[in-house]
Amino acid sequence: MTTMPNNTDGSLTEGIRHAVQEHYGQRALRVIELTDVTPAQGTGCGAENCGHGTCGGDDCGHDAAACGCGATAAACCGPADTEHAMRLYNDAQLQGLPVEAMAASAGCGNPTALADLRPGETILDLGSGGGIDCFIAADQVGESGKVFGLDMTPEMLALANANRDRMGLTNVEFIEGHLEDIPLPDASVDVVISNCVICLSPDKDAVFREAFRVLAPGGRLHVSDMLALTADGPRLTDSEAWASCIGGAEYQETYLGRMESAGFVEIATTDEALRFDENEAPLNVASVKVSARKPA
Ligand SMILES: C[S@@+](CC[C@H](N)C(=O)[O-])C[C@H]1O[C@@H](n2cnc3c(N)ncnc32)[C@H](O)[C@@H]1O
Repeated sequence: MTTMPNNTDGSLTEGIRHAVQEHYGQRALRVIELTDVTPAQGTGCGAENCGHGTCGGDDCGHDAAACGCGATAAACCGPADTEHAMRLYNDAQLQGLPVEAMAASAGCGNPTALADLRPGETILDLGSGGGIDCFIAADQVGESGKVFGLDMTPEMLALANANRDRMGLTNVEFIEGHLEDIPLPDASVDVVISNCVICLSPDKDAVFREAFRVLAPGGRLHVSDMLALTADGPRLTDSEAWASCIGGAEYQETYLGRMESAGFVEIATTDEALRFDENEAPLNVASVKVSARKPA
């Protein structure tokens, strides 16, 4: 198990990027497999096998490799995997989503819930994974709007594209790239959303700088993310904890300070939910919703 560098060192570490990409690539492949073949009940991460997860819903306990931000279990499975999405989103948001999109959900919040997305707006989802927040946003912005999902993991992009095609959506586009170097023009987006992803980046200054750059003046940022409760940082910092959205969770004050340095104003946090390990020990992190605005 590799110990990851401190996430405050400001350098973009290839080791972290590789570990994260490997983790979510495996997860995407497993979701693709599981939706083809559903194992017998009780062999996977159904309710009986679920302990406390390290990210996402309160008692998500999925296989760390197979189920994204999660803890440990033998394998991923069919319908039980939609439980994670069902904890984070309301029925209206989930209506019409393919099971593959719900099963891929690896977030720790619901960033579109209070984002007040309007018809015609352009949205960018940083670290879009299997696409769940993009599909919810697409419904809100309608045919006259546009949603971009950005992700660096090819397998996740393949899964997201398959989900989009399954839904017949024409206003969603998934693009390959990094949060720290967003392949979109300046001032081209009305709202940036993100769900449990910025904590995975070793260069959060670059992420906020880039998010600020692509937002139009007056544009909004709505992010659900894992943050540390004290300056000590998260209790676990190894590579597995990093890829599970714990190791890179930064102290809230530092994180919000980076947003301010990037130029964001009206920075506010809500909806704090503490996280524990499988032994119920506090991890010194919480899932937090953060909103901000680029000055008009
Ligand atoms: C925890 S999952 C969250 C996925 C999605 N937001 C959700 O709620 O289901 C993190 C995703 O972010 C992507 N990711 C992590 N770091 C990234 C980076 N620096 N640039 C682009 N994508 C990244 C991973 O490939 C993965 O698909």
